[in-house]
Amino acid sequence: MHKPSISIFGLGYVGLTLAVGLATRGFKVTGYDIDKEKLEYIARGEPPFYEPGLGELLQKALSEKNLALTTDPIKAVVETDVTFITVGTPENPDGSADLTYLLKALEDIGRGLLLKSSWHLIVIRSTVPPGTSRRAAKLLEKYTGKVCGRDFGLCMNPEFLREGNAVEDTLYPDRIVIGEYDKRSGDVLENLYRALHGENSPPILRTSLENAELIKYANNAFLAMKVSFINMIANLCEKIPGADVEEVAKGIGMDKRIGPYFLRAGLGWGGSCFPKDLKALLHLGRQLEVRLPLVEATIEINERQPLKAVELAEKLLGDLRGKRVAILGLAFKPGTDDMRNAVSIKIIDKLLERGAYVVAYDPKAMNNARRIFGNKIEYAENAISCVMSADCVIIATEWEEFKKLEPRDLVRHMRNPIIIDGRRVFNPKTIPENIKYVAIGLGSQTEEDP
Ligand code: UGA
Repeated sequence: MHKPSISIFGLGYVGLTLAVGLATRGFKVTGYDIDKEKLEYIARGEPPFYEPGLGELLQKALSEKNLALTTDPIKAVVETDVTFITVGTPENPDGSADLTYLLKALEDIGRGLLLKSSWHLIVIRSTVPPGTSRRAAKLLEKYTGKVCGRDFGLCMNPEFLREGNAVEDTLYPDRIVIGEYDKRSGDVLENLYRALHGENSPPILRTSLENAELIKYANNAFLAMKVSFINMIANLCEKIPGADVEEVAKGIGMDKRIGPYFLRAGLGWGGSCFPKDLKALLHLGRQLEVRLPLVEATIEINERQPLKAVELAEKLLGDLRGKRVAILGLAFKPGTDDMRNAVSIKIIDKLLERGAYVVAYDPKAMNNARRIFGNKIEYAENAISCVMSADCVIIATEWEEFKKLEPRDLVRHMRNPIIIDGRRVFNPKTIPENIKYVAIGLGSQTEEDP
């Protein structure tokens, strides 16, 4: 099958993983980013962020000469057949999506298209509000005088990859959604994906640009809603002696109509996607005068959830002034060093506000934590040194290495043996009696201790 040559604008999680995925499967890929420092890292074979497995694949792609990097966006368009736009669409102060980087990319692509006589496909893979892709087609027509659907093509192709699983999700996605301006554009992108995935190609949904844009937002909103739902049930479980949200989640997850995924109760969801995309959806609802009460409730539950860790610490220790609180886990989830909208930030800010002394440890996110908190908190080298002499420990990210710890060893050098398990890393049944163990979604397990 013919493999078109590809340029990728924006080498963040989505763009770099796609670039590397395509290049290691034999496509010729040119990566472009406005950030020169980022390009230098990538050219040395070092991903500028932590993502399991990505470093090895990047080095392979570079050594096989299938991945080239450029600082010239116009050349990147002129020398390739297909351009993916994977730039960020961060949040504006009013919650709407900031399209500055997308518009800049379109301008550069337009300049490239002007120098080309052959048909070129533009694929928007950034998350953009409904209507944006059609507007992008009009802008490109304006910049070039060419006609979309005739002289060039355009697709909206949302991504569903998770940080920490980005390589796997790119190479083995559940499905591919292609929103197409016209049939030829959809055909070219479908063939590209069929060439990438070969016989194991996942199902491909071909649809309109607007539906593809909406599928992305609805997908993230539904997943976040599942997590907020189980956190709501967790809050209920805590008030019911003998109840445990883990068992409830297991039970409802066995119903095929509900499914077992995204039902892990904890201190709430964070990251670079759910918070921004749910706010953008609410903004869209306001613009169109459509109420979205489930999205509102999903956000509201999530705003309160992290603070439960602080309330529990206060309940167990009283006034937190001068108390030493250890935080295990800073990344917004395991498998990443990303701390964007991590619940740990809200928890630490609140603890500091209450006058507590905070010491923190994360297997990967220490550099990011230093950038965020500077000298306001203490940083530990490992989990055990983090809890040393602490009055309590809050587990805020469910890293595997924390799951392997023995609660007995964890509390050995603490001032008070108090564990607040915000991510359900320990089995409550195996906690020794001398440890005060409280966990999200766990009702009191003994009758005398309601
Ligand atoms: C999310 C989506 O899962 C991806 O499909 C999507 O492509 C991506 O956003 C995006 O829009 O780019 P990601 O932000 O990497 O991916 O993280 P998730 O694995 O979805 O987790 C989000 C948050 O929910 C994390 O804070 C996680 O700890 C929390 N979570 C997740 C729970 O608290 N419980 C769960 O059961 C699942």
